[in-house]
Amino acid sequence: MISEKMVKALSDQVNAELYSAYLYLAMSAYADSAEFKGIANWLNVQAREEQAHGTHIVKHLLERGAVPVFAEIKAPQASWGSIAELFDMVAAHEKHVTGLINKIADLALEEKDHATYNFILWYVNEQVEEEANAEELVARVKLAGDHSGLICHLDNTLGAREFKDPFPD
Ligand code: FEO
Repeated sequence: MISEKMVKALSDQVNAELYSAYLYLAMSAYADSAEFKGIANWLNVQAREEQAHGTHIVKHLLERGAVPVFAEIKAPQASWGSIAELFDMVAAHEKHVTGLINKIADLALEEKDHATYNFILWYVNEQVEEEANAEELVARVKLAGDHSGLICHLDNTLGAREFKDPFPD
């Protein structure tokens, strides 16, 4: 039996994942309007992944016989001073999300809720990759500096990212 506290914690995480999707969609729009089409693509794929992360938690709650608690999703920031500033925010945001996921894992252990603990471990592992990817992009943008050729190359590379459903049926 899943506790009310855990239903609230997982529902809050649905909100956080959908906020992440919203934030990355806003970042994608900003990058697109600044003519960084490849970076816009990478962020758009990121937004779709975040939406999948949120939907997967809803599915888990329903499987456990719980009704998710939906709440308002706050508006994301709409513009950034530079691509470097944008990726700094991606990295900081992913660190923040890792903290939220770890709190759910802590609560699951505290409540001896093995089903939620097992479920949330996928997200714990995913955050390792999410943080590493974000940090790599921060470093690559920093390395490129004002060198437009290097930024163009990075933009082209990120344009190749394709969405893969993290939870295929
Ligand atoms: Fe849902 Fe960026 O992790």
